[in-house]
Parts: sequence; C-alpha cells; structure tokens
Amino acid sequence: FNASFALDPAHVVAPVHRRTFGSFVEHMGRCVYTGIYEPGHPLADEDGFRTDVLDLTRELGVTTVRYPGGNFVSGYRWEDGVGPIADRPRRREVAWHSVETNEVGLDEFARWCAKADVELMYAVNLGTRGIQEALDVHEYANHPSGTYLSDLRVAGGAKDPHNIRMWCLGNEMDGPWQTGHKTALEYGRLAAATGRALRAADPGIELVACGSSGAGMPTFGSWEATVLEECYDVVDYISCHAYYEEHDGDLGSFLASSVDMDRFIAGVAATADAVGARLRSRKKIQISFDEWNVWYLSRFRAAPPSAEWPVAPRVIEDQYHVADAVVVGGLLISLLRNSDRVTAASLAQLVNVIAPIRTEPGGPAWRQTTFHPFATTARLAAGEVLAVTVDAPSYGTARYGDVPAVDAVATHDPATGDASIFVVNRDQAAPAALTVDLRAFGSSLRVAEAWILADDDLHATNTADAPDRVSLHPAEGVTVDDARLTLPLPPVSWTALRLT
Ligand code: AHR
Repeated sequence: FNASFALDPAHVVAPVHRRTFGSFVEHMGRCVYTGIYEPGHPLADEDGFRTDVLDLTRELGVTTVRYPGGNFVSGYRWEDGVGPIADRPRRREVAWHSVETNEVGLDEFARWCAKADVELMYAVNLGTRGIQEALDVHEYANHPSGTYLSDLRVAGGAKDPHNIRMWCLGNEMDGPWQTGHKTALEYGRLAAATGRALRAADPGIELVACGSSGAGMPTFGSWEATVLEECYDVVDYISCHAYYEEHDGDLGSFLASSVDMDRFIAGVAATADAVGARLRSRKKIQISFDEWNVWYLSRFRAAPPSAEWPVAPRVIEDQYHVADAVVVGGLLISLLRNSDRVTAASLAQLVNVIAPIRTEPGGPAWRQTTFHPFATTARLAAGEVLAVTVDAPSYGTARYGDVPAVDAVATHDPATGDASIFVVNRDQAAPAALTVDLRAFGSSLRVAEAWILADDDLHATNTADAPDRVSLHPAEGVTVDDARLTLPLPPVSWTALRLT
C-alpha cells in the first residue's frame, strides 16, 4: 500500500527538547546494584561504576536521569545514602520487597551522572515524608556551603553543590500501591506547600507534580484537575506515566500504543489548560512524561509475592523483542510530535529493570532491541519538530479503534540544514511504499543515513550470548528524485533517516 506526507521547514511544532531523551534509575532490582554500580566487576572504575554501562549510557544518548524512584522513593530516607558508606544502614524496602544497602546515595549518583554526562532529576519522598525532608535534601544537594547539611556534603567529599534543577514532588501518589498514597486534594496541598518551600530556597528550580500513573486509573482527569487547582502557580510540570504491553496476542493494538500516548497527552494538556483558564492564569503547565516504556506488567502482577528480602533481586528484567522495539520507536514519535507540551520524558528504566541496557553480574552488558530506536532518535532528532500529516490506510484495533498503518514525525535543524524522519509501519502483513514531498526544502536534500529495524522473527531478542541478534540495518531502496523521497517500509518496522 502507499503512504505519503509532505515536509515543510516553515511548519514548526516546537523545538526538540533534549530532555525528551531522559531515562530513569530507581533503587529497584538490579538497576543500581550490578547495573550501574558493581565494585569488583572487571570493568568497574575507581568509584565502582561499570564502565561498560557508562559507555552504553552515553551511546544511548540519554540526557536527564530521574532518581532514586519510583515507588522506592515513597519510603526512602535520603540521609541513609550519605556519609561514610561503611556506616550506612541496611534497610527493609517495602515497595519492591528487598533490602537496600545504601552503598549508592545522592553523592555517588551525582558522580555517576557527571561521568555519564547526564542531568540529574531528583524525586523527593512525599509518601512517608514531607516538606522538611524535601527542604533538607535540597539543602544537602544544592546549597553551596556554610550550613549544617551543605557542610555535611562538603565533608563527604562533594565540595561543589549538585545544582539539581528538576525536582519531582513525590511519585505516583494516585496509586493505591504507593506507600503513603493520598487523595488528590491531600496530595495537591502537600505538593503546593513543598513546592513553595523549595522555591523559596531556590527560585531557579523546576517542579514536577505527580499526575496519573496511567490513563486507565479510575481517577484520571479528576486527579490532574484537583492537584493543579492546588499547585498550578507553584509547579512547572505535571507528570504522565504509561507502560504498554501486548495483551492476549493483540499485536495490532500493541503496535498502536502511540495512539494511546497521543490521547493521554491531549487529555492531560486539556485538563491543565481548563484549570489554567479557571484560575485566569497565563501560565502553561508542561508535561513531564517521566515514566514510559513497554512493560509486561500483567506477568509481573501474576507472579506470587516474594517471602524473601533479597539484595538487588532480579525484578522485571523484561527481554525485549523486535515488535517491542518498533513500539518504542513509535512512542518516541509520539513524544516528539507532542513537543509543544511534553518538554521532558524518561524511558523507564535505564539498566536491567525494563531497560534498554542489560547486564550480568561479573559478566557482559548488552543492548536490548529497544536500545536502537531510542539511541538513533536521540542522535538524529535535532532543532525543530515539523508538523507531519501522514496519508495512509487505517486498520481496526480492539483497543483504539481505527488507526493509521503508518506513523511518522520529522525534525529540521536550521543550524545545519539537516532534516530527520522517523517512521513506523504497523501493518503486520503488507509493506508500505512511502513517498515524502520535500519540495519546500528546495532540491538540495540528499540521504546522509538511513536505518531500519525489522526482522522476519518479530520475537527475536538480544541476549548475553547473542547480544547483536537484533540491531539496525542500512535501509535499502531509499531514493531522492526531484525533491521526492521514496522508501519501502517492511511490515512491523521502524525506520530513521537523516537528510542533508
Ligand atoms: O518503573 C517501575 C515502577 O513503575 C516505578 O517504580 C513506579 O513509579 C511505576 O509504577
């Protein structure tokens, strides 16, 4: 079948925000311990950080990393993770039923961020704790020196403040599973009071209020409205979280996950704007999509609860296949397309726990299938997002109704003149012949690189033994003739092109 769209550098949606390519490190499973940190590993550096994971993190192109949770943060005492490591307490951690050794805390993670060249985004505990503890961790992290907590940081070896700019006011407080779960009104008031106090200490910070932990939550919509009624003038962002999986063999709906993401974003933006209108505010609340990914959550929920209290257990180490990677590529298209509202996002998580990077303790690190669309989108999306309206046939899905078989987004960098195109074919049987009208760019654009992720086996994965079974291949059959780009899109595929 045929699909087409036209690109025009004048039709700009929004800038490409580098924070769109954020990720998430939670003290959960093996994300931290034997993930980013494994002293004694042959490739560990002087701080115990795995250099193979640092290299892959840089290659992934991650910009911002949310830390330390997640559900973990809602029972976390940040003070446990500072001071001499030998003196730090081992604690029972109820969110993931494990023991937290606290060998890695704020200063260590900040050091890891500097090595990975990423921005640290910090979540405070508003589950079991409140305003004072949020102020305390801020004083420890960001106050230069000369106060009790900042001097404690300096004494521990971190002379310079960490200057954390983005602060999440709790995590998923709408979820009954969350330690210290609250009603929207309770949370909205606490978020407003905590945010005001933090801003009084440090006016330059950016604050994220918890939105819904999924568009399917029973309180979705009313949660955002009530929370924002309380804290609209204080916060900069409302968060969205979404995880997708294939349910009961319904691949068609799964491949259309980005349709759900688009609708989720539109719903949250409309709700935030309605509150803003009622408050007669000129401010626009931005969206931090600070947890998103494919996650086979139903398998996790079906597993019996553990009676053990292990250190760094193997938890939700989902092994991603080709179709999962095509969905991740599609979700990135949605995030970019919505760059007028979504100005930060975090792929959850970074290592081992539903992650693009996997490791074995004492062994190798490797790229999951989902690594590839993320790394290439982060590398090629630059400058401005351009409006794209794809003309393509639709197919019916059980979850989202009729959806277009082809989805795409494009960026244009006025500084270099380069344009990039990201496109998925969701059809399970038919290849698409895509045509892109480039006349608005003149006749000078040429293909500089073209990559495709597709495979006859949609369930092929990468493993420690076969780490590169699934990777990108140069896309074949791409031509530009008379400012008309044409390329074939195999069924269930993700493609990225850079034109120069
Ligand atoms: O990313 C895994 C978990 O998913 C996080 O801890 C939580 O915030 C979400 O429910």
